[in-house]
Amino acid sequence: MSQKYIAPSLLASDFANLQRDIEMINGSKADWFHVDIMDGLFVPNISFGMPVFEAITRHTQKFVDVHLMIVDPDRFVEDFAKLGANSITVHYEACTHLHRILQVIKQAGVKTGVALNPHTPVHALREVIGMIDMVCIMSVNPGFGGQTFIENTYNKIAELKELILAKNATTLIEIDGGVTDLNARKLFKTGADVLVSGSFIFKSKDPLETIENLKLRSSK
Ligand code: DX5
Ligand code: ZN
Repeated sequence: MSQKYIAPSLLASDFANLQRDIEMINGSKADWFHVDIMDGLFVPNISFGMPVFEAITRHTQKFVDVHLMIVDPDRFVEDFAKLGANSITVHYEACTHLHRILQVIKQAGVKTGVALNPHTPVHALREVIGMIDMVCIMSVNPGFGGQTFIENTYNKIAELKELILAKNATTLIEIDGGVTDLNARKLFKTGADVLVSGSFIFKSKDPLETIENLKLRSSK
């Protein structure tokens, strides 16, 4: 079976104790860090920017998956790559010239990602799927943690899996929003490779155990 990944979202961490929470993830069974950047324009919320991202990557010891919820993301691809991003995901809805932006991300030496809002059909990526290392299917409307998972996500995973196979691509499927131990197994079974989880992990009593349990959902 192909490898499956758990990516805790730092959006739900305690920003006053960022280093502590990052060290917790470093020492956990999690595979990646998921870092949400919001600009208050593409989404109705602002998270944090470059100086905080730079502080984060001073401590992360795992793959850093950057999710840009910003307009014209090409403006900042180089900066995030230089500061330690391992993958950069841009929103389909935020890119007039997605093909070009994917080239820019690749040239920056990091993995390419494209996120789809809940209303955006999977087939919108048909012509560029071969250039994308990871598609992030948003299972909530982006902008906030702690929202309810949208059930139509399963249909989108199945459709995306078909597209990837049809085009002989190696693209990973990431799911972002409302992931818990109640849907993790079904998401992996349907074809997800990476599960992002924020509030479910950080608001739990024992985040290390919660991460371990999510990871177990990929194998049983
Ligand atoms: C939402 C962000 C998510 C968020 C997920 O816009 O992209 O990464 O942190 O949080 P939960 O797991 O709480 O839905
Ligand atoms: Zn995200």
